[in-house]
Amino acid sequence: MSKTFTIAIDGPAAAGKGTLSRRIADEYGFHHLDTGLTYRATAKALLDAGLALDDEQVAEKMAHKIELSGLNRDILSSHEIGEAASKIAVMPAVRRALVEAQRRFSERAPGTVLDGRDIGTVVCAGAPVKLYVTASPEVRAKRRYDEIIGKGGTADFDAIFEDVKRRDERDMGRADSPLKPAEDAHLLDTSEMSIEAAFQAAKSIIDAALSRNN
Ligand code: C5P
Repeated sequence: MSKTFTIAIDGPAAAGKGTLSRRIADEYGFHHLDTGLTYRATAKALLDAGLALDDEQVAEKMAHKIELSGLNRDILSSHEIGEAASKIAVMPAVRRALVEAQRRFSERAPGTVLDGRDIGTVVCAGAPVKLYVTASPEVRAKRRYDEIIGKGGTADFDAIFEDVKRRDERDMGRADSPLKPAEDAHLLDTSEMSIEAAFQAAKSIIDAALSRNN
């Protein structure tokens, strides 16, 4: 079996874990999987086919068809798809199908970075490095708001703020694999930390783990 090294990154929406994960994967030459996209792709396929979002068997079948190589955040980034994704993410059969594919991905050599909600607690519970990236709901809503305005769009801060809180509630409150830090995760609160500072903090944790591993 090939030797691999897995970095598990979890946290709520808009905490900065996507940017941080890509940066880490680049730095170490590791494969990166944004597991949120697997839930989003399943939700989009259901929406496109006009199928119900509350039928677990139908959603499970769709989840089995998702190809990890075809995931594209540009196509999957809409608010509607995100909401639909968090609805089907409460279904155990959907999670089982997607977690299986995510675990297979995590074994790629020489190493992998997976980011999501349950990577350190469920998908890669044995990962040698686990990071839990978070920020206050206000800061995360402000980042979303700035991002939309920066792209020339219009946005309502209060609506975004309510949305962030609703999504947190759904992700943290579900029975199967709720969002929470693994016991052995390093916490990175990016509320008052630049992405560069978060990256440097992550890098020293990863370098220490890599040297223990060798
Ligand atoms: O991270 P992103 O916003 O793309 O994720 C969309 C939704 O997919 C989340 O709100 C969450 O409900 C679900 N998800 C999950 N487990 C993961 C990744 C995402 O339940 N590992």
